[in-house]
This record gives sequence, structure tokens and C-alpha cells, in this order.
Amino acid sequence: MFRLTGPHLTVRMEKTTVVLGGTGKTGRRVVDRLLDQNRPVRAASRTGTPPFDWADQRTWPALLENAAAAYIAYYPDLGSPEATATIAAFTELAVSGGVRRLVLLSGRGEENVLPSEQVVRESGVEWTIIRSSWLAQNFSEDFLLEPVAHGEVVLPTGQIREPFVDADDIADIRR
Ligand SMILES: NC(=O)c1ccc[n+]([C@@H]2O[C@H](COP(=O)([O-])OP(=O)(O)OC[C@H]3O[C@@H](n4cnc5c(N)ncnc54)[C@H](OP(=O)(O)O)[C@@H]3O)[C@@H](O)[C@H]2O)c1
Repeated sequence: MFRLTGPHLTVRMEKTTVVLGGTGKTGRRVVDRLLDQNRPVRAASRTGTPPFDWADQRTWPALLENAAAAYIAYYPDLGSPEATATIAAFTELAVSGGVRRLVLLSGRGEENVLPSEQVVRESGVEWTIIRSSWLAQNFSEDFLLEPVAHGEVVLPTGQIREPFVDADDIADIRR
């Protein structure tokens, strides 16, 4: 928090937490937790205020203004080919602008997410990496909703058992 003081006015401006994917499955829940604690929070998405788009770096600085921490749920997927360069550019901008804590939502046992994790580990600020398996909310809020409604879900899992995670449990994580 910092304080601006003038002859007639004292304004306290507490730094904020930006939540990327702030209307998504985990981000929305992280935002709710912070609001419940009366903590300042800025939910980031293309429909947010200000609008934030991973594909348009011109939208990034306004989001990061006066931010102390960032929860990063990258879209579409941390394992996608462009993710590491994008996470690197975002991390550099965030840290140079004063962000002191980064939380990255990552995958479980996926090699192609490791370079992005490395970027956050080497950011020079406090970091947490959440390695989550598939979210249960994929079935109720996302792309598996329609297959569920039609009575059959087919996935290339082979014999591997998938421990689904509740997005509320992700949002409840404390350091
Ligand atoms: N889903 C899983 O089971 C799972 C498990 C482990 C890790 N992860 C990781 O979690 C991350 C998020 O995946 P998710 O499936 O859970 O998605 P999600 O967070 O539910 O994604 C939707 C969010 O992303 C925003 N968004 C979409 N396109 C955007 C863009 N171009 N720029 C900025 N924001 C955008 C959406 O808002 P708007 O549409 O309003 O922009 C919404 O807030 C991925 O990196 C994934 O690898 C997912």
C-alpha cells in the first residue's frame, strides 16, 4: 500500500492482484476469494476493464498498473507452442512494473509446460506453480459439457487414471 498526502487530502491506494483468466474456471474463483477478503483485485479477460488480450500486448500495461501480484491462467493452454514466449514477455513486463508475486497455473506431468514454469521460477520475484490435473469443471463449465449432455465422453486416456481436481480447491490454495 502507498499513501499520497496533500494539504487537504490523504489517499491510500492499496496495490492490486491481477487475475488472468479472471472469468474462467479457476480465475473466477480466485477473484471471488479475494473479494470475500476485501482485497483489491482486477479480473483480466477480453471483456474486462481494462480489456486484456494475450494476443495483443498493447492491452497488457493498463492491466498491470499498480499491481503487486498476478495469478496466471494462460489461454488457450500453457502447453501450446507460443506460450513460453508470451509468458516470458508478460513476466518481464509485470516484474519491471512492480509485481512481486507470481502464481502460475500449470499442468500435471506435461513436459511442454516446463519452459513456461522455468520463466516464472527465474523471474526474480516470489513464485508459486500449481501443477493441476484435469479440472472437474471441464465437465460442467467447458468443452465436455456437451458430450456429457449427449451421454458419452470419449478421451484418449488409454489405461491412465485421471485424478480430476475441483477448481474450488485450486482457488483455496494458500501459500
Ligand atoms: N482445464 C484444465 O483441466 C486445466 C488443468 C491444468 C492446467 N490448465 C491450464 O490452465 C490454463 C487455463 O485453462 P482453462 O481450460 O482452465 O481455461 P479458463 O481459465 O477457464 O479459460 C477461460 C478464461 O480465459 C480468458 N481468455 C480467453 N481467451 C483469452 C485471450 N485471448 N486473452 C485473454 N484472456 C482470454 C476467458 O475470458 P474471455 O473469453 O472473456 O477473454 C476466461 O477468463 C491453461 O494454461 C491450461 O493449460 C487447465
